[in-house]
Order: sequence, then structure tokens, then C-alpha cells
Amino acid sequence: MKFFVDTAEIDQIAELNDLGMVDGVTTNPSLILKSGRDILEVTREIAALVDGPVSAEVVALEAEAMIAEGRKLAAIANNIAVKVPLTWDGLRACKVLSGEGHMVNVTLCFSANQALLAAKAGATFISPFIGRLDDINLDGMELISDIRQIYDNYGFETQILAASIRTVNHACQSALVGADVMTAPPAVIKAMVAHPLTDKGLAAFMADWEKTGQKIL
Ligand code: E4P
Repeated sequence: MKFFVDTAEIDQIAELNDLGMVDGVTTNPSLILKSGRDILEVTREIAALVDGPVSAEVVALEAEAMIAEGRKLAAIANNIAVKVPLTWDGLRACKVLSGEGHMVNVTLCFSANQALLAAKAGATFISPFIGRLDDINLDGMELISDIRQIYDNYGFETQILAASIRTVNHACQSALVGADVMTAPPAVIKAMVAHPLTDKGLAAFMADWEKTGQKIL
């Protein structure tokens, strides 16, 4: 499973990238706002830092304007994936931009039918939002599972990018149901290492080691 980091904070991306935990990055207008950075500048910096796809989102609502914005974002670097919303205008932009050879991430996906349309429009990635479905008492993971089955039924190559990941359980369950990629905030990726039995076991080993009076170095 590929790990994308869902942030526009350069320091946090760099920290996880050094650990080999970053296969790509996703941003959106809210994350750009949070970073306080200029979208073109920060996207250029992120794209230079990581080898994998860096999603940068268009903000136009009409297809021709989305296509123009997408071309400008894609020109930043070879590893930019243009992010478009799951509307008919977004799908039209997806069709045109993917036809030009650009990676396209179709975002704000909340149904299997939407994911089917995105695949037919040539999306490189489909981003189903798990957490936002869970927020309204729907099952985000069931959506990932349904999309997996539909894409496998017909051999669609669009990669399922599990998004709106809020917990370590979302991460694990996305992997179990076969998401190709997950994008998670740095804090969730960091929390994946934690287990109380690891902490307890390490403390016991350290206590016993102390008693041996030995040193390795
Ligand atoms: C990623 O592409 C999405 O923009 C992001 O995962 C949304 O997450 P949120 O629902 O926690 O804002």
C-alpha cells in the first residue's frame, strides 16, 4: 500500500519522507489555507522534495477554467496530480487533462457510482472520503470495499486513494479492503507505530538489561 501524506506542511512531509513513509502528498484548499503558503510556491517545494505524485487542487467550478488551472498546476513539476472535484465539470476536466498525459486525482467521492464515473473519465486516482462519511453515520470503509470490487470486476486501472483518514483504524481497514493508496495526516501515520504492549515490553527489556550490568557499545 502506498502512503500519501495529507498536508502542505513542508517540515512534516520532510520528516516522514526521511523515514521512507512518503509515496506522495495530497493537498486541498483547506490545507493550503492552514499552511499560510502560496499554492504555487508550496506545491513546487513539495514536488521537489518527494518523488511520488503531489496532488494540487483546482478551485474553478467550470470545466474550461478547471482545465486551464490544471494545466498551470501540472506545469509546476512532472509529479503533479491535478485534483478535480467529482462533478460533471470535474469529470470533463479529468477527461481532457488525463488525455493530455497528466495525472488526475478526482476528489470528494462519496459513492461507488461516482467512482465508476471517475474511472471512465480516465482518473489516475479516485479519492473516497472515509472520515466525512463516518461523520454522518455512513460506512466509509464499505465504500472503499465497493469501489475495490467494481474496479476489479471491470479491470479499471484507476487507483483507489482512501482519503479523509482520521484514525489508525481507518488506515488498517483501508489496507485490508485493498485500497491502493491511503492519504493521512502526519499525526495519523505517526500514531500507527504505537502499541501499549510494545512500550511495556521495551520497558521490561530495559529493566532486565540494566540488571546485567553489560554494555554493547
Ligand atoms: C485528501 O485528498 C482530502 O482532501 C483529505 O483527506 C480530506 O480529509 P478531511 O475530511 O479530514 O478534511
